[in-house]
Amino acid sequence: MKAQILVTKRIYPEAVELLRRHADVDYVDSDEGLPAEELARRVAGKHAIVSQLTDRFDAAVIDKLAGIRSISNVAVGFDNIDVAAATRKRILVTNTPDVLTDTTADFAWALLMAAARRVVEGHRYVHSGQWRIWYIDLLVGHDIHHQTIGIFGMGRIGQAMARRAGGFSMRVLYHDAMRAPEALEKSLNLEFVSAQDLLRLADFVTLHVPLLPETRRMIGAEQLRLMKPTAILVNTSRGPVVDEAALAEALERKTIAAAGLDVFEQEPKVHPLLLKLDNVVLAPHIASASIDTRRKMSLMAAENALAALEGKRPPNLLNPEAQ
Ligand code: DGY
Repeated sequence: MKAQILVTKRIYPEAVELLRRHADVDYVDSDEGLPAEELARRVAGKHAIVSQLTDRFDAAVIDKLAGIRSISNVAVGFDNIDVAAATRKRILVTNTPDVLTDTTADFAWALLMAAARRVVEGHRYVHSGQWRIWYIDLLVGHDIHHQTIGIFGMGRIGQAMARRAGGFSMRVLYHDAMRAPEALEKSLNLEFVSAQDLLRLADFVTLHVPLLPETRRMIGAEQLRLMKPTAILVNTSRGPVVDEAALAEALERKTIAAAGLDVFEQEPKVHPLLLKLDNVVLAPHIASASIDTRRKMSLMAAENALAALEGKRPPNLLNPEAQ
């Protein structure tokens, strides 16, 4: 009997073809995602699931799964899956790291530059026909080169940001739960500082931490108050890392200068005040969305699912103790 795989949402066709060469695939060829009851119905009789970050596999859902060998998320983040609950049920969980590192850092950098140099405001200004005359301080913004960037989270994407910052001759501060090895600090010119010092000193604060109980709302009113009035916040990690209402208020009062946001607390909802402000650049969770990267992420998830079904260790296994 062929293995049975559920693909919960549309992925790149190459990945579906790959899965179909080895298994029977129940492919949900739509972008809507399955409501909870429909998901529960469709997983019955399956051996593997290819999921996306909009699918919630919390402990209650996982406890009801029967016969599932693996859940392969098409994302590097996996806060939508209760990995501990999966491990208890000996379900392998996989993600798609590395392939999106530079793509995500490119986009975080694009947000940083767009917010600092008021690119979106400039676009709106020209588009709406307001541009009648050039003048000395028309849409003046903030320099990026030779400024100080503060990176929260010195994992793969944090390091990619530090490499980009080097190209802009920036001072690079970072904070992480674990200090990076000395060799890495040296090669990227990193300065390890406390969270408070990072917030106080940085002209740009960029977030590259996973969503964990300890990082939930790690940037709130208190942290925003520590930042310079000229500082810019960039978030491409997960929305709940920032208290969105507190950020909207700080941006409205100009206690910080601007923000570039790709992720939100309750996607696809965005705090209504953020939608009214000019000093924030908003994007719909697309930091890893290059054609090549999203195709590779789809293929990686498919390869992880197939490896699990063949009894092999999936290349991107998150919970080896479940094997
Ligand atoms: C991820 O991979 O976790 C991103 O948020 C979506 O690509």
